[in-house]
Amino acid sequence: MDNRPIGVFDSGLGGLTAMRELIRTLPNESILYFGDTGRVPYGSRGREIIRKYAKQDNEFSQFRTRRKNAVLAACGTVSSVARDIGDALPVPYFDVLRPTARAAVEQTKNGKIGIIGTAATIASGSYRKEIERLAPKTEVFEQACPLFVPLVENAFVSPDDPIPRLTAERYLTPIREAGVDTLILGCTHYPIISETIRRVMGENVTLISSGREAAKSCRTVLEENGLLCDGKTDGTQQYFVSDDTESFYKVAELFLGQSVESCVECIDIERY
Ligand code: DGL
Repeated sequence: MDNRPIGVFDSGLGGLTAMRELIRTLPNESILYFGDTGRVPYGSRGREIIRKYAKQDNEFSQFRTRRKNAVLAACGTVSSVARDIGDALPVPYFDVLRPTARAAVEQTKNGKIGIIGTAATIASGSYRKEIERLAPKTEVFEQACPLFVPLVENAFVSPDDPIPRLTAERYLTPIREAGVDTLILGCTHYPIISETIRRVMGENVTLISSGREAAKSCRTVLEENGLLCDGKTDGTQQYFVSDDTESFYKVAELFLGQSVESCVECIDIERY
């Protein structure tokens, strides 16, 4: 048993898609979230910068969780470009890649899987390689969607808003026309606009949320290894960001369906 909190980090709001799943399924667990809102987006940056940021986010999460329980990199870009940062850690470290690819392979019926993600994620080929390893006969169709993260971070999240809808149509039409029956939302921000994506892809395409799959896998490992808390009290959540707190909590509240204003703190990620 371990009463120390789980750490979850992302470049911004996207990791909330993992956070929501963890809060729902592990209500007694305390969770610390870090969103690097001052440096988002990561996905349009070069490999070395992404790795540097990922290491800092990870160290901050470990430090704040008192280096025990677990850290979840709830970011497709970090998971794709800095896969090895968890290797030397004394704590269980989770990323989104494996559980998401596994869920898509289990879900597809026609063997055609679409993958959307940031430019860095798609360029790395990480999801494609993982799918090909699990199911070599699968046909994979990839598309980078670099405008989705700024849209989410700037609260363009309503499915009735024409701006995200037109952007989604531009990005997703070729994948829909390829006939995929399963689409990996390979960036954790994308489930926040899943209704927009669903309207473009149609009801028959299953959307796989990388944040949700990573949270499910994290929960299973913690359960199996006796690393969950004693369950005697309700879990608490604390949020850290590297820029203004207001823009974060407004979208966070919309997405999580609960007020987080009083538990968001701005930190300097270079000197915490
Ligand atoms: N949520 C991050 C991901 O899953 C967003 C990356 C970005 O900041 O561009 O890739």
